[in-house]
Amino acid sequence: MTYAAFRSIGAYVPEKILSNEDLSKMVDTSDEWITKRTGIKERRIAAKNEHTSDLGMKAAELAIKRSGLDKDEIDMVVCATISPDYFCMPSTAAIISTKLGLKNITAFDISAACTGFIYILSIAKAFIESGMKKNILIIGAEKLSSITDYSDRSTCILFGDGAGAAIISATDNKDEAIIDIHTGADGKYADLLMTPNGGSGSAHDAIDQETASCFMQMKGNETFKVAVRTLTKDVVEILNKNNIENKSIKHFIPHQANYRIIKAVGDALKLKDEQVVLTVEKYGNTSSASIPMAINDIYEQGTLKKCELMLFDAFGGGLTWGSALVPFAPIK
Ligand code: ACO
Repeated sequence: MTYAAFRSIGAYVPEKILSNEDLSKMVDTSDEWITKRTGIKERRIAAKNEHTSDLGMKAAELAIKRSGLDKDEIDMVVCATISPDYFCMPSTAAIISTKLGLKNITAFDISAACTGFIYILSIAKAFIESGMKKNILIIGAEKLSSITDYSDRSTCILFGDGAGAAIISATDNKDEAIIDIHTGADGKYADLLMTPNGGSGSAHDAIDQETASCFMQMKGNETFKVAVRTLTKDVVEILNKNNIENKSIKHFIPHQANYRIIKAVGDALKLKDEQVVLTVEKYGNTSSASIPMAINDIYEQGTLKKCELMLFDAFGGGLTWGSALVPFAPIK
């Protein structure tokens, strides 16, 4: 039997920091409000000439280096993003592959908003277990500043830029295997979080497209309630289905949208503070990049060790949600 192993992690964040203080000079908000409602203190913003593919490429370089693989051994690249270099085509995954010098690979993007990383993890697992691919580079990369309206205080305080990447490889060692992944979606909540302009469902026709902004719009309060309900249900289900107790989770790594959402889910699972990974304070919500960026943080701090069990949990536009039980399985 062939299993899928989570071999390595890498991440990249742009240099420029946008603090709550900075935002309070741009819109009617305050550090106190943002900190109390979200837990966010600052976020990173990519340079004008720094594209989503540049962020993704830098994260991927690190993940490849740490995997011990030669880059020519990679046979597929999948990128999760809602802020691609170009809407529709070419895919950001194809651009990243070329920037990395990869040849003869399959490359494509998927759109599942903040759940994107869990979706691409499930795609990698399926391709590997079916025997179609052996070493897959998955990337969550976002330049959310390019689709954020900096005059809308209800959204601009939340989002930041960054990227995270991982190598998922075939193994015959069951102890290294990704245990389980759940993914779900429900389009009836589509209008809670969307970029309403620019697509074929847009009110604007092709002539208007240049002036029709692709900015995100969100009904934050309603999204918050659905997020807590769905995330809690989803993690309880994946743990029960696999007969895994809360105390066996070494690192709970949720999507970093809002400290209050993370706390509510962590409390519902009766997790201790040291089990819960938090990066929302310094990076804000980086959508599909937030889980791999958080994994990278604990890896670089030296707190993520071989064979330790991680639980991922995410929720985002679509609406989409997902959870995954993943042992960290580096070669060394
Ligand atoms: N500064 C000051 N006041 C503000 C701000 C701000 N930045 N934004 C909103 N307010 C005001 C509102 O106008 C409102 O004022 P009112 O009471 O006079 O009408 C008040 O604050 C409360 O607004 P709410 O929207 O009810 O605030 P809430 O406590 O819900 O916090 C937040 C808002 C932070 C957006 C929260 O709802 C949230 O985190 N939602 C979930 C976001 C999320 O998880 N999204 C999914 C993933 S993102 C993705 O997929 C890309």
